[in-house]
Amino acid sequence: MIINSVNIKNFRNIADLSFTADNGVNVIYGENAQGKTNILEAIWLFTGCKSFRGAKDIELIKFDEEFAKINLDFSDNLREKKSQIIISDKKKNASLNGVSLRSTAELIGSFYAVIFSPVHLSLIKDGPSARRRFLDTALCQLKPSYAEHLAGFKKALIQRNALLKDIHLNSQLYDILDTWDDQLARYSAAVIKERLNYISLLSDYSKIIYSGISENKEIFSVSYSRNEIINENFSVKDIYLNELEKIKEARKEDIIAKTTTIGPHRDDLEILINNVSARSFGSQGQQRSCALALKLGESEIIKKITGETPVALLDDVMSELDEKRQDYVLNHINDRQVFLTCCDPSQVLRLCGGKSFLVKEGEII
Ligand SMILES: Nc1ncnc2c1ncn2[C@@H]1O[C@H](COP(=O)(O)OP(=O)(O)OP(=O)(O)O)[C@@H](O)[C@H]1O
Ligand SMILES: [Mg+2]
Repeated sequence: MIINSVNIKNFRNIADLSFTADNGVNVIYGENAQGKTNILEAIWLFTGCKSFRGAKDIELIKFDEEFAKINLDFSDNLREKKSQIIISDKKKNASLNGVSLRSTAELIGSFYAVIFSPVHLSLIKDGPSARRRFLDTALCQLKPSYAEHLAGFKKALIQRNALLKDIHLNSQLYDILDTWDDQLARYSAAVIKERLNYISLLSDYSKIIYSGISENKEIFSVSYSRNEIINENFSVKDIYLNELEKIKEARKEDIIAKTTTIGPHRDDLEILINNVSARSFGSQGQQRSCALALKLGESEIIKKITGETPVALLDDVMSELDEKRQDYVLNHINDRQVFLTCCDPSQVLRLCGGKSFLVKEGEII
């Protein structure tokens, strides 16, 4: 996957910015608060996902402007494509090769990128919800069926939780609870099975990448964490039956808590370095290396499943990494197109060719 050119208008602090990209490394550098991350954020929207900074669409429009417009010309293995996104205060429209799409989500599957930015350190540092979001986003990008199962699961969870709140007022609701228990177990099993398969692949790739980053000195592992032993060899039916049993067992506790206490919405990823928790014991550099290994692992999985090598968007990736770790990362990604932001380009330019762009007050100088 190669981005040929980018044009950004009225997006964040960028009034009008265009550039033709290099097929290899594109270094976007400049002082703080000049618009470097904004450029990556604009490109990222073409994956069909929301802003990786969790911003609302309206926050993306330049202050005092009515709409933002971004054009991306890119090529996949087969052909060149032109895509446009227009964000106004009411909605976000997208088009691909001149054809209007119903939503930007329809861009999923056309343009693949992997983003690593400082917000992704939450993968290691924060609670389980950041890790579940990482898994769900990665899987939704790859498998539309996962998005359907996840939506079904969330709906069943909302219905069951609503029942749990009212059940003490009306004992007839127990029959309906049986139905929702079954629905919940079915969707949970589909979600858990997909997550287990994904993590099995992710574990293989990220382990190798982390080993390279740490010069084989540290061992990384990632696994699915829930309150029982389960792995990718379980069938969906086994997981369903097991989940149904656990939901029934938890019913009393759930009625008291007025919420569903077990399920994929409570699961987590366990991330270890040398067999101890990266979250509790990892140094800054180790935590950054872990997040990076997961993100580069995500990129390998997209490549394996779709045949397309995702564009790497690396925001401020080098800080906190020593020179050896930086060198490994730069060498590891030299087989794909990269957009890399930093304040001081000398660190990266010593290793990679490509183009560099100085950004100042939302413009490329
Ligand atoms: N909707 C908006 N309209 C105008 N300016 C905005 C908007 N949203 C954000 N900005 C401004 O964009 C500026 C640049 O943001 P960006 O995150 O791209 O900086 P950066 O170059 O990556 O800096 P750093 O090196 O600190 O990461 C910020 O100063 C911010 O105030
Ligand atoms: Mg930035």
